Amino acid sequence: MARRDALWVCALALAAAGCGGADGPAARGQQVYLAQCIACHNLDPTREGTVGPAIKGSSRELLEAKVLGGTYPPGYAPKRDTAVMQPLPQLAPAIPDLATYLE
Ligand code: HEC
Repeated sequence: MARRDALWVCALALAAAGCGGADGPAARGQQVYLAQCIACHNLDPTREGTVGPAIKGSSRELLEAKVLGGTYPPGYAPKRDTAVMQPLPQLAPAIPDLATYLE
């Protein structure tokens, strides 16, 4: 089974019973992602979402700027020139886990 398929199974299983390694940073980041981001971004972060772009590979610096402040790191070329996404500053403690999940 490809790793991506395994992640899918894991994502679906999380809601029920959790997956092996559910305490790790990537698993915690995935839980935050599923709870806070997939209304707009794809369940699979390598793909375009209904509203937001693919965000797999986003750096911690980018996540801090965009998720917490609604901005971008200096010199970063955004994937979209819109400003639809509202900042979610309450997620500050979850940024390291999100970055691990998306790296
Ligand atoms: C209300 C819909 C919505 C939600 C919820 C949302 N986003 Fe977004 N996101 C967008 C849209 C739309 C963009 C494109 C830029 C814009 O219009 O703000 C974007 C852009 C981004 C970018 C910048 C991509 C790039 O490289 O230019 C990152 C990173 C990102 N989102 C991460 C997240 C994370 C992580 C979450 C959950 C914590 C999240 N977003 C929740 C809609 C959303």
